Amino acid sequence: MSLGRSLFRVTLLSAAAMLFAPAPASAQAMLQPPPKAMPANPTVDQNDWWKRSVIYEVYPRSFADSNNDGIGDIQGITRHLDYIQSLGADAIWMTPMFPSPQADFGYDVADYDNVDPQFGTVADVDQLVAQGKTRGVKLLLDFVVNHTSDQHPWFQQSKSSRTNPYRDFYVWHDPKPDGSPPNNWASIFGGSAWTLDPVTKQYYYHFFYPQQPDLNWRNPKVEKAMFDAAEWWLKRGVYGYRLDAVDTMFERTDLKDNKVYPGVDAFGVPNQDHVNNSKQPEVHTELQRLRQMVIDKYPGRILVGETWTSDAQELVQYYGPRNNELQLPMFLNLISLPGLTAPDLRQRITGVETNSVGGWPSFALSNHDSRRVASRYPVPAGASTDDWAKITGALLLTLRGTPVLYYGEELGMVNNDPQRIEDVQDVIGKKGWPKEKGRDGERTPMQWDASANAGFNAGAKPWLPVAPDYKTRNVAAESADPHSVLNFYRTLIALRRTHPAMAGDWKAVDTDDRQVLAYQRSGGGKTVLVLLNLDAKPADVPIEKTQTMEVLQPLAVNRALLISGRVHLDPLGVYVAEITPIP
Ligand code: NOJ
Ligand code: CA
Repeated sequence: MSLGRSLFRVTLLSAAAMLFAPAPASAQAMLQPPPKAMPANPTVDQNDWWKRSVIYEVYPRSFADSNNDGIGDIQGITRHLDYIQSLGADAIWMTPMFPSPQADFGYDVADYDNVDPQFGTVADVDQLVAQGKTRGVKLLLDFVVNHTSDQHPWFQQSKSSRTNPYRDFYVWHDPKPDGSPPNNWASIFGGSAWTLDPVTKQYYYHFFYPQQPDLNWRNPKVEKAMFDAAEWWLKRGVYGYRLDAVDTMFERTDLKDNKVYPGVDAFGVPNQDHVNNSKQPEVHTELQRLRQMVIDKYPGRILVGETWTSDAQELVQYYGPRNNELQLPMFLNLISLPGLTAPDLRQRITGVETNSVGGWPSFALSNHDSRRVASRYPVPAGASTDDWAKITGALLLTLRGTPVLYYGEELGMVNNDPQRIEDVQDVIGKKGWPKEKGRDGERTPMQWDASANAGFNAGAKPWLPVAPDYKTRNVAAESADPHSVLNFYRTLIALRRTHPAMAGDWKAVDTDDRQVLAYQRSGGGKTVLVLLNLDAKPADVPIEKTQTMEVLQPLAVNRALLISGRVHLDPLGVYVAEITPIP
């Protein structure tokens, strides 16, 4: 690898010995000590606070169980706000805690204006908001817009008779003459997307489980009821929403069949392209109305989107033509890649960076629906899952834009998948076993310390088993270890808060390199260089004689070493340093 015209020379090394020593096979130097206290976010009180922020996703069921019933809860989150603050997260996105039969662990909401007793009370949310405020940590809720629970009073009314005033809150259709469903649309959670109601003898539509009937957003009364619910929490001091499953809010009214492809999904249903029941143009009109009629009435409030897109061109639609839709449509595309390579990432990130409406980027590498990133890809010889956690953390936290960080990723938590179908909690895992094992593995309890149940609670059996590595992989142990994944994350987040270059531009350098993803952040007259070796082989970044740049200060390093004339990066090596032009 060569840095092309952006050459640099060594002028400052924190350890002189490194200058002369050959690069060791595994160079673990952490050149910048972790911050003792996280520096404050300079933009915390501004309306565009979210641009300099890190959003931390908390799955309440799994974070901390304050009343020792085996299930995490809101008071558990409040008790750990000091930790969230010390990590440098500026906002929590709390996944659904509303009253729910828990068919999809909260993504089946039975009342949008309340809290499920197993998670706490509305007063607990108020307290989380208030306690967060004193620490500069805002709260975002999860707004499940596509569907409700089948136990929601709206659906109970709707299914009671064809003439009930709530009938049109949902999508009902007659059977075909032979009694079969209205068309071939499949649920992505298995089977037909239509379920017959035996009383009224019509089918209702559900993109997810039958217990999650789709709302009919073409009905203005649905819009009014849902907008009122959104506003209810904003008035309580919530800072906005992560919008669930926005792609599927609308479906074609002519019920055109989807095209079927060879093969079957994990549930044995023929593969199909959901072209007629997702990503309809009306989604954008509706999201723009939500932004204008609800969110923009409250300064500083934001919409984050669960926006699964195949590339940046598709993503751009979710910003809206005048940036009037979602402030942060998450670019989730990187989560679904079979592997992470420098050329591919360079091209995808550049696509987001150059989006045609100038939308603010938001990247995520993990969430509660995807394998944990540390255990997602093969580990190269000599490296470990920690090294995957560090290189992906470095990527997420040094890109421009707003990262969304899933709880436990900062510890390098790995998937703990069920070994037997009897142990599976997530229904898609029961239905799809063994092809689809469900999402339990990435939802295990947060690992706080080495005590029983990793400090998740006071000893009651947690709803999912704690991962076996908790005795060493936990907040307490990693806080004390300067080389831990946690301290690597803290260093990088502190850098985002304090270094002017990290508030500036992003530019790929050495764009032909196939091993190392190299880019610069520049702002306030400063430049930070990031080198990420995503390859299974070591890489060297030579420093040539015609030097034009010098390394001022290495800032975060793992498995990489600056020695005379080159930066040596082991597989999964990370080198982040401030550089400056030589006058
Ligand atoms: C996306 C959520 O992240 C997932 O957990 C849920 O099962 C579906 N939407 C349905 O709400
Ligand atoms: Ca509990």
